[in-house]
Amino acid sequence: MPSSRPAAPIVPAAGDPRASLRAHAEDKLADLAARDRRRLAVETRALDAVTVTRGGRRLVNVSSNDYLGLAHDPRVIAAAQAAAAAHGTGAGASRLITGEHPEVVALEAELAAFKGAEAALVFSSGYAANLGIVSALAGRSDLIVIDDLAHNCLHMGARLSGATVHRFAHNDAACAHDLLARHRSGARHALLLTDGVFSMDGDRAPVAALARVAAAHDAWLLVDDAHGLGVVAAGHGAGEGACVPLAMGTLSKALGSQGGYVCADRPVIELLRNRARSFVYSTGLAPASAAAARAALAIVAAEPERCARPQALAARVAEALDLPAPDSPVLPIVLGAEQAALDAQAALEARGYLGVAVRPPTVPPGTARLRISLSAALSDAAVAGLIDALRAVVAETGR
Ligand SMILES: Cc1ncc(COP(=O)(O)O)c(C=O)c1O
Repeated sequence: MPSSRPAAPIVPAAGDPRASLRAHAEDKLADLAARDRRRLAVETRALDAVTVTRGGRRLVNVSSNDYLGLAHDPRVIAAAQAAAAAHGTGAGASRLITGEHPEVVALEAELAAFKGAEAALVFSSGYAANLGIVSALAGRSDLIVIDDLAHNCLHMGARLSGATVHRFAHNDAACAHDLLARHRSGARHALLLTDGVFSMDGDRAPVAALARVAAAHDAWLLVDDAHGLGVVAAGHGAGEGACVPLAMGTLSKALGSQGGYVCADRPVIELLRNRARSFVYSTGLAPASAAAARAALAIVAAEPERCARPQALAARVAEALDLPAPDSPVLPIVLGAEQAALDAQAALEARGYLGVAVRPPTVPPGTARLRISLSAALSDAAVAGLIDALRAVVAETGR
């Protein structure tokens, strides 16, 4: 596009603050590269739910969280297209400014019904949801007890809240109990935070035990079920059957759309509508994203066999590779060093599969891994090929 302003110089002159900013960025990037932790964005085009092209090659995608293949389902696409055509591509402003879009209102009602809650609130992403929920419900006089391996957005929400934060050992409800027993009495309110399915390990939280711990200490349990909705408990998610007053999740994984949500009692939702800053001060979800999520949620409710397939495929791969039986569609193959995980990703790619290397700080130091996630859309032949490829890669990388 033509511009009336001269192009900015690419390298700022010494003394220009951009020069020190640029030098700072270059130093940090060099440090990340030296530790094999620099991340690169690689252009990748999705051809369908499980096929991508990258660097001119076709690859089978076993790194996506589109667990049910719904981001490419014709019914979901048609719903998004119709909503965009009817209502435009963007919400225009915060929902408190431009008003509630009927697609979003309907989505919230359907999410609440699906999760057996009084009400739901939708945010622009799962990350934004957790930042907003945790910092709205906890403040300086409060206590937050959080699983050590909970997702970064829960940890950041806890930090933003200003509450006193204690981490409990991963999935250790007794440890959470001890921390609450020790620190609860000095705090006004307490929040207990966990993922339902852990994104990098694929294991499930002991939600029922945590709910009992929370009840014993009047703590508010939040379960982030970003990786559980649509794929565990016949699609209902990891907290199914337990008392979870804050059932959070995302629209961007099994539902194949974009956005985050929380289901809770109506006054809690109304409080969040008023006080969650990532809701109040952020543009509402695009109508097309809400419509896509609605169509996907209807498929989840109607097709439990589709919801069961990703974990069944993960179990097939785990058995073939002598790995522990998985709790979800996520299969970690822990390799240790950053470079080992990068080598494994490259070796897998050479065999036609895109499985991503996950390195610290996303996972603890010394536990870099290949994270394989199985989609219901994978054919049995593609899964058989994946097993062969992973066997060869694991042998090559010396695990
Ligand atoms: C456990 C968990 N919670 C929240 C999020 C954030 O959700 P979103 O991608 O919708 O921002 C993620 C995404 O990776 C996640 O894995």
